[in-house]
Amino acid sequence: MWSQLDDMRKDAQTRSISELFEADDARANGFCLQGEGLLFDYAKTSIDAAGRAALIKLAQDAGLAAKRAAMFAGEKINETEGRAVLHTALRNLEDEAVLVDGQDVLEGIKDTRTRMADLARAIRDGSFPGHGQRITDVVNIGIGGSDLGPLMAVMALAPFHDGPRCHFISNVDGADLTDTLAPLDPETTLVIVASKTFTTQETLLNARSALAWAGGEAALGRFVALSSAVDKCGEFGIPEERVFGFEDWVGGRYSVWGPIGFSLMLAIGPTDFEKFLSGGQAMDRHFQSATLQNNLPVMLALVGIWNQQVCGHPSRAVLPYEQRLARLPAYLQQLEMESNGKGVAMDGSPLSRVAGPLVWGEPGTNGQHAFYQLIHQGQQVVPCEFMVGARGHEPELSEHHKALIANCLAQSEALLKGRSEAEARAQLEAKGVSGSKLDQLSKHRVFTGNRPSTTLVYGQLTPFVLGQIVALYEHRVFVEGVIYGINSFDQWGVELGKELANGLVPAVSGGAQPGGANASTVMLLEHILEHSG
Ligand code: F6P
Repeated sequence: MWSQLDDMRKDAQTRSISELFEADDARANGFCLQGEGLLFDYAKTSIDAAGRAALIKLAQDAGLAAKRAAMFAGEKINETEGRAVLHTALRNLEDEAVLVDGQDVLEGIKDTRTRMADLARAIRDGSFPGHGQRITDVVNIGIGGSDLGPLMAVMALAPFHDGPRCHFISNVDGADLTDTLAPLDPETTLVIVASKTFTTQETLLNARSALAWAGGEAALGRFVALSSAVDKCGEFGIPEERVFGFEDWVGGRYSVWGPIGFSLMLAIGPTDFEKFLSGGQAMDRHFQSATLQNNLPVMLALVGIWNQQVCGHPSRAVLPYEQRLARLPAYLQQLEMESNGKGVAMDGSPLSRVAGPLVWGEPGTNGQHAFYQLIHQGQQVVPCEFMVGARGHEPELSEHHKALIANCLAQSEALLKGRSEAEARAQLEAKGVSGSKLDQLSKHRVFTGNRPSTTLVYGQLTPFVLGQIVALYEHRVFVEGVIYGINSFDQWGVELGKELANGLVPAVSGGAQPGGANASTVMLLEHILEHSG
């Protein structure tokens, strides 16, 4: 399956991307695709026509089309947990049945969404709770997929906010709870406890402390739960009418489209929330119907595989030139690294190559003044994924948006072109530098260039476009998982640390011995207890 690409490795690693442009006048358009109002440019990578053909063949040989159909059809493709993978059903606004074990699941999803919308409207128009004061603030308590998705989306869609202010508590560190709740009034704050399993230690501890802050049991009337463990929400004391459930075939990191997105629905309203869903659904339809070469998620995935497997670059930077997408890199870290950071194939056999890229990033232009030094001159090449909107939301500040776009385009240009020593010398000579100083300084001003990047351009960051972008990345992760032959929908790797943390709680609380702990851990614990005051 991989041999054709493996054979290209040496050539691809030494190839000049600029020469690819010189050899092909049509490269800018030929290695770029447009669909659904998005433009994805991958011309500034070392992929040539033969490389692209080999990548597409790789996807075909991996059985992508059949596996994609199986996912949308509700087959149990999450084999290690015996579950279907149907987050796409949460954003399916059509009427055609989606079956799991022979049962249509769309009806239940719609009912829940209608109940969410009813409550959201009541909170937004002030008619909830029927007495007492109007809700001005909402606090979502959750972690991982029960935090990152809604937090990222709420931040991204700030221009569409016309509901209560949304806040997020995730960390078990009491500082998160304290600092978030400090400015809020418990009487006008709605608390959302978001946890798929309703067993997550951090979330339950935060929820209990938030309940105490809100006034104890009497305040449960201002609590909402989002979970697939509806019974456990009842045990916590949150009544059924304010529990929004979802099924176990929605993975935590894929759950923003359903109840876990309730804070987003409160912030932007049910109508705009549906636009977010329809953006996701439009990307689903594109993913299902476009040819592989014209398929945005497929090509995004294949470019990532080329950079990682053929060129040998283990990490990728996600660089949105959109301040409101500041949490997108963190969101994608969970999406990509929790999904594909695996060591074994679906059948349990060890993977023959390292799957799962290291994903990191920050919005531009801030990153330029922090880590871009390494990206431009460091000895490890980091493929960069730029994204930018053609239009901002601040027409009165259009100068800012022009500067943002200029910076975004300049970075990919600089990564590609670099600067030769001759050019560096000429610049310095023009400033009057000469002799040994010139020899020394010019070396520091050389940029090797030939560093790969892609650019995703969208019109404007609206609910619809955000839905498209999130679904685009979800499907990218799916395609990569299919090609590596792994299960992108479980996360056993997070369990061991959780088990050990639970085991250590009694020892940290003082008293109990940390049974079985390594000598270094025992030493650290003793030191901490000694200094805990
Ligand atoms: O620890 C990892 C994880 O299970 C994620 O997959 C999940 O998004 C997060 O914890 C939170 O889980 P829950 O929504 O069940 O509280």
